[in-house]
Amino acid sequence: MEVLARAKLNLTLDVLDRRPDGYHNMRMIMQSVELADVLSLSYNDTGELRVCTSLHFLPNNEKNLAAQAALRWYESDTVQEPGRWDIEDLKSSPGFGGLDISIEKHIPVCAGLGGGSSDAAAVLRALNQMEDRYHDPDTVAGIGALVGSDVPYCVIGGTALAEGRGEVLTPLPPLPKCWVVLCKPEFSISTPALFNKIDSVRLRCRPDTQGAIAALEAGDLTGVARRMYNVFEDALPDRQRARVNDIKNVLIQSGALGASMSGTGPTAFGLFDDEERAREAQARLADFGGEVFLTRTV
Ligand code: C5P
Repeated sequence: MEVLARAKLNLTLDVLDRRPDGYHNMRMIMQSVELADVLSLSYNDTGELRVCTSLHFLPNNEKNLAAQAALRWYESDTVQEPGRWDIEDLKSSPGFGGLDISIEKHIPVCAGLGGGSSDAAAVLRALNQMEDRYHDPDTVAGIGALVGSDVPYCVIGGTALAEGRGEVLTPLPPLPKCWVVLCKPEFSISTPALFNKIDSVRLRCRPDTQGAIAALEAGDLTGVARRMYNVFEDALPDRQRARVNDIKNVLIQSGALGASMSGTGPTAFGLFDDEERAREAQARLADFGGEVFLTRTV
């Protein structure tokens, strides 16, 4: 089975507080885009779970979230204690003959675009169709939460409010379809390190999440774009924040309705209601360095 794993954007991202379990409570509006990895899953008769990707530096073992997702899927029916299985346990499971997962990467890695989470979610959605047992989407999203905080959203996709660790989801009216220009600067950011840092940063500004939801309800793309904001931008080291701001400025000067950073970054993106302006922004950013993409919302 071939399945798409779409990238996600954070239209708004707010970190509320640190929880006793070490995670943070979040409030963020998520949005899927057409930019996607392509996964294919096929049974093999080796009794093994094998992962291969088009990028040599990505793990092909249990460290790959796609493999984690398959493990949690098969475990969900077999064992009482979720989240404890490893690949050896899978080999001795009667319901498992062997599985190959191949991942063609298009979403930039460590970019704030949820590439790994989306690959994991795509594996769960594919297995939900390939296997005899059918789980409803909420159950699949629940299995995804064992793999990572953004996986449940990636199972469902579209426009949604994510709260709690990221796994408490409320579907929202869809963002009016628009063009998106994304630019991932040449550096990467450690998600756990930025989460740690945000606890000691005085946030200058918070997103108007409620206002953005009202704009979605009114079908007002400009109203949403104007309210896009991500508190992690304030926690970036100075040079990285300056680079993200430079990208946002190019996007706005090229006619973006709004621009922000996605997730823990460093990808910055802009929303456009006009294809020509989006293409102009893409061309300007291409001279700017980093990886640049033109895509559309889903
Ligand atoms: O859930 P996931 O494995 O994707 O999270 C990666 C890391 O990001 C966690 O180990 C934690 O440090 C941080 N995190 C957090 N609060 C969240 C989500 C992630 O502190 N809501």
